[in-house]
Amino acid sequence: MPATADGTKDRTSAKRFLVTGAKGFIGSWVVKVLIERGDRPLILDLDADSHRLRALLSEEQLQSVSFIRGDVSKLDDVERAVADNGITHVIHLAALQVPFCVANPPLGALVNVVGTVNVFETVKRHRDQVRNLVYASSAAVYGTEEFYGADHISDDAPLQPATLYGVFKQCNEGTARVYYACDGISSIALRPSTVYGLGRDQGLTSGPTKAIKACVAGRSYVIRFTGRADMQYARDTAITFIRAAESGLEGARIYTPRGAVVSMEDIMAALERQFPDARKLIRAEGNPLPLPADVENIAIRRDFPDLPVTPLDEGVRETAEIFRKLQREDRLDLRELSV
Ligand SMILES: NC(=O)c1ccc[n+]([C@@H]2O[C@H](COP(=O)([O-])OP(=O)(O)OC[C@H]3O[C@@H](n4cnc5c(N)ncnc54)[C@H](O)[C@@H]3O)[C@@H](O)[C@H]2O)c1
Repeated sequence: MPATADGTKDRTSAKRFLVTGAKGFIGSWVVKVLIERGDRPLILDLDADSHRLRALLSEEQLQSVSFIRGDVSKLDDVERAVADNGITHVIHLAALQVPFCVANPPLGALVNVVGTVNVFETVKRHRDQVRNLVYASSAAVYGTEEFYGADHISDDAPLQPATLYGVFKQCNEGTARVYYACDGISSIALRPSTVYGLGRDQGLTSGPTKAIKACVAGRSYVIRFTGRADMQYARDTAITFIRAAESGLEGARIYTPRGAVVSMEDIMAALERQFPDARKLIRAEGNPLPLPADVENIAIRRDFPDLPVTPLDEGVRETAEIFRKLQREDRLDLRELSV
């Protein structure tokens, strides 16, 4: 199948995207990019609330999104969504993030592992209809920097996840390998790192986005990690998922995207360039993230050489602009700043 460039629709054959977990942060951006180029994606999500989509999309754009309330841990829900809606491309994002897996490991395994098996099983059962599958793994599959004894590693470095969340993501990559080896189901895993931007309101690495929101509101906020992070802007991440879903590449492929690898001091400095009072409002404390910040993105650069990489300053500026606009419209939700 031919790959398409951003913003251009492949007209060679009709496509219908299913995006699981698209009421969430990355999914809302995937939906935004798809709608902006004229697609009409279908969302499968357990959550009926659309606050991130409402913040990102116009009323008119919202009308072009179809939504099915369903649970990826139930095979029937996934299968019906695919079979009843002529789905040709699946972007599987539904998952519970690190804090939720810590709070309830069995539920984390059910959603993150069984949910992903259900997506693969559905694609296998409907292989004549579904042409491409991409799913979210995570940079959390790697070990800590201490494990590698290095602050820069290759994307094919051995895995030793430090969290159950990372273990569940590693398991999904194994699921993909076996579905390809035994059933010929091709898939692409993407392992994002610290994705930021409008809608990033929960999870271990949501601190920098919440800090931007706090600065806009003139509130104080503590980022709960220190050290370095690979900051990936949400629009870039969304475009990467869509490109991967349209690539038509064979096999059980795994790619580690790379954004701006920066220190917490770099993040603070970027905030200060947007908000002169940033250092009075924002501080960072806690341990470094339990994953390596600096992973060489060899495979993704080889197979997807022209992916967008937004510089940190630009991502912070754009995010601040969107938050300011929401503030002017009296729609800036500050509730998550207390979490
Ligand atoms: N945000 C990041 O920095 C980051 C980094 C690496 C990987 N990822 C992965 O990318 C994906 C999307 O992340 P996100 O930040 O958008 O997460 P998010 O928490 O904002 O969104 C997850 C969505 O999944 C939905 N969901 C949860 N359980 C479900 C279920 N049983 N059935 C159907 N839907 C369910 C939630 O309602 C939510 O809308 C996840 O798989 C996540 O693990 C995210």
